[in-house]
Amino acid sequence: MQLKRVGILTGGGDCPGLNAVIRSIAKPAMNYFNATVIGIQDGFEGLVEGRMRILTPLDVTGIINVGGTILGTSNKGDPFNYPVEGPTGIRIIDASEQAFENYRNWQLDVLFAVGGDGTMHIAHKFGKMGMNIIGIPKTIDNDLDATDITFGHDSARAVATEAIDRLQTTASAHHRVMVVETMGRYAGWIALGAGVAGGADIILIPEIPFHWENVYKAVLQRSKGARFSIVCVAEGAKPANGDIVVKELDKKRTDPVRLGGIGELVGEKIAQETGLETRVTVLGHVQRGGSPTPYDRILGTRFGSIALQAASQGKFGVMVSLQRREVVTVPIEDAIGKLRLVPPDSQLIFAARSVGTCFGD
Ligand code: F6P
Repeated sequence: MQLKRVGILTGGGDCPGLNAVIRSIAKPAMNYFNATVIGIQDGFEGLVEGRMRILTPLDVTGIINVGGTILGTSNKGDPFNYPVEGPTGIRIIDASEQAFENYRNWQLDVLFAVGGDGTMHIAHKFGKMGMNIIGIPKTIDNDLDATDITFGHDSARAVATEAIDRLQTTASAHHRVMVVETMGRYAGWIALGAGVAGGADIILIPEIPFHWENVYKAVLQRSKGARFSIVCVAEGAKPANGDIVVKELDKKRTDPVRLGGIGELVGEKIAQETGLETRVTVLGHVQRGGSPTPYDRILGTRFGSIALQAASQGKFGVMVSLQRREVVTVPIEDAIGKLRLVPPDSQLIFAARSVGTCFGD
C-alpha cells in the first residue's frame, strides 16, 4: 500500500523509549516512502481537538536518547468517554466521531497509536469503526498481554534497581528497614524485577497477597543477622483479605483509579509492630523519567520500523509485539482481553524464593 500521510500519537503515561518509536516510524516514512508524517499532540485528546502538525526531519533528529515524548501525551482523553468541563461539572461525551473526522480531514493513510492498555482499547474501537490503525505497546508496567515485554519497562526497572542499591547503603549503615514503593498498577513486574536485581529481602506484589505477620517475621529475623532489610512494595500490592490503597479517583482519566500509599502503610505497620527503625521511599514518576536504556531504545526502534512495514503491507487493526526474539504483529484485541500479570508460579518467583526472598505469603 502506498503510504502518503501517516499519523502518530503517544497516549497514556509517558515512558522512556517513546521518542525512539516516533523516530523509527518518521525517518523511514519520510526517507523511503516519501510520506508526510503528522504528529498528533497529547494523545487521543489531540485527535479529538484537531491539534496536529506536520513533523519535519529535524523534529525527529537527536531524540533517540531523550525521555518523554516530543508529541506530548495524556491519560485523560478517551474519545469514547470524553470528559468535558462545564458549569455543572464534568460531562462525559462520545467524541469518537469528531476524532475520526480529524483523521479523515488530515487524510491519514494510517494512524500509529503508541500506548498501553487504555490506548489499545481505544485503538481497537477505532479499528472496528474502519480506521487504519496500528498499535505499538508501551508502558513501564509491562502489563500488556500478547507481547513478551513493552518498551519502557526495562528503563523503569533500571531506575528502581538503582534506587534499591542506593537505599541499601543507609539501610546497612543505620540498621534500618527501608521500604521502597514502585509503580506498576495492578501488575508487580517492576517491583519483582527491581527487587530481585537489587536483592530485596521482601517483595510485595499484587499477584501474591501478603500476610502482615509474615512480613514482620521476616524483618525481625533479618534484624538479628544482617541487621537491615529492604522491602520492595508494588503500588498495587495488597494484604490477603485487604484492599489495594487508592490515592485518588479522577473521572477524567482513562483508568480513574490512581494508586499509591501502600509503601507508607507497610512502613508504618512494620515500625509499629516490630519496633524497628523504618523509612519509606516512594519512587513515583522518577521511574518514568530520564533517558531510555539501550534495551528500550532498541526495542522501540524495532517496534516502530516493523509497525511501518505492517502499514505498507496494508495490515491494520494489529499491534506489534515481541514474541521470543522476533517482532511480529498480533490482532489488537489479543492484547486487551486481560492484563499480563506475574504468574505466581513463574521461574522468576521461584528463583527469588530460592535465594530467600520473602513474598509475605
Ligand atoms: O501506567 C503507568 C503508570 O506510571 C503507573 O505505573 C502508575 O500507576 C500511573 O501510571 C501513574 O499515573 P499518573 O502519571 O497519572 O500519576
